[in-house]
Amino acid sequence: MKKVGLVGWRGMVGSVLMQRMREENDFSLIEPLFFTTSNVGGQGPTEGGSAPLKGAKDIEQLKMMDIIISCQGGDYTTEIFPRLRESGWTGHWIDAASSLRMKDDAVIILDPVNQHVIKDALTKGGRNWIGGNCTVSLMLMGLGGLFKADLIEWMTSMTYQAASGAGAQNMRELLQQMGEAHRVAQSLLNDPASAILDIDRDVAGILRDEKFPTANFGVPLAGSLIPWIDKDLGNGQSREEWKGGAETNKILGLGARPIPVDGLCVRIGAMRCHSQALTIKLKRDVPLDEIEGLLASHNEWAKVVPNQREITMKELTPTAVTGTLSVPVGRLRKLSMGNEYLSAFTVGDQLLWGAAEPLRRMLRILLD
Ligand code: HSE
Repeated sequence: MKKVGLVGWRGMVGSVLMQRMREENDFSLIEPLFFTTSNVGGQGPTEGGSAPLKGAKDIEQLKMMDIIISCQGGDYTTEIFPRLRESGWTGHWIDAASSLRMKDDAVIILDPVNQHVIKDALTKGGRNWIGGNCTVSLMLMGLGGLFKADLIEWMTSMTYQAASGAGAQNMRELLQQMGEAHRVAQSLLNDPASAILDIDRDVAGILRDEKFPTANFGVPLAGSLIPWIDKDLGNGQSREEWKGGAETNKILGLGARPIPVDGLCVRIGAMRCHSQALTIKLKRDVPLDEIEGLLASHNEWAKVVPNQREITMKELTPTAVTGTLSVPVGRLRKLSMGNEYLSAFTVGDQLLWGAAEPLRRMLRILLD
């Protein structure tokens, strides 16, 4: 059995990965070895026979692995990966962090969409398999059918990204912010005769108060939104927005003839589901029912939601999708600009298809 080293398995993405690997019986196919940066020698999980945890910076130990899966984050990858390769290690490196994503010798893994790119790289000796940006992966899971049919001339994506994309501490902070907003309004809320504008004034007051908990987001998210995600590239674009185009085209292996993908990325107060509104310029006028067929049949997780009010409100939301692998896509409609202009809205769990699931599926591909 292949020796598979797991690093960062206790963090948020790592915990979701562990849960999915248990659900899918992945541990029965491998010899798992658990690594840690903080608790070397501590008792490991039962999946690894409760064996003592190994040091995640111990190159000699890491070198003994056939495959390493890291959810430890970008700083760890930047520090350890080059040293490991320089030491002569030729195993497979599967990583959730973005550090290596755009390297020429790395493949961004999302096998329901780019199995051909993965298989091709494997044949050529590829060994670096990197999970994609969550927003990009979720968009491609929902719209894979249109990309596969080569129907997209360009696309804009307006995102509604959940707190989890910023990290576990940010999810906690969002809830603390919600609690604060409720706390200041509570007595007025309990009085049905109170004036809504008085409630609103108190809520706005606490959101702007310097004591409002914003250590992680920097600004209020509850009762508000943040129209900037990740670094400022200095050209008016955020790094998250740049990834939309760069990673989409790398995942699809379209380096020479990229499809323009660009838009605005916005953080909203959802917990762990990213949503996005898309405007798509089609290469030709394709009937809506044909489009729906292409989307629904592309992979088993994409699900077309009819463009009707009740079902959209029920099924096309973070609340409906959270904790599931389903990627609903709806609001499909030809826009008034012309029959080649399509709108769509899609939702996906940022920690599942957006982070953990492509990693465990890559492991399965390597075990085949
Ligand atoms: N960068 C994403 C976000 C998450 O901030 O929502 C990671 O892909």
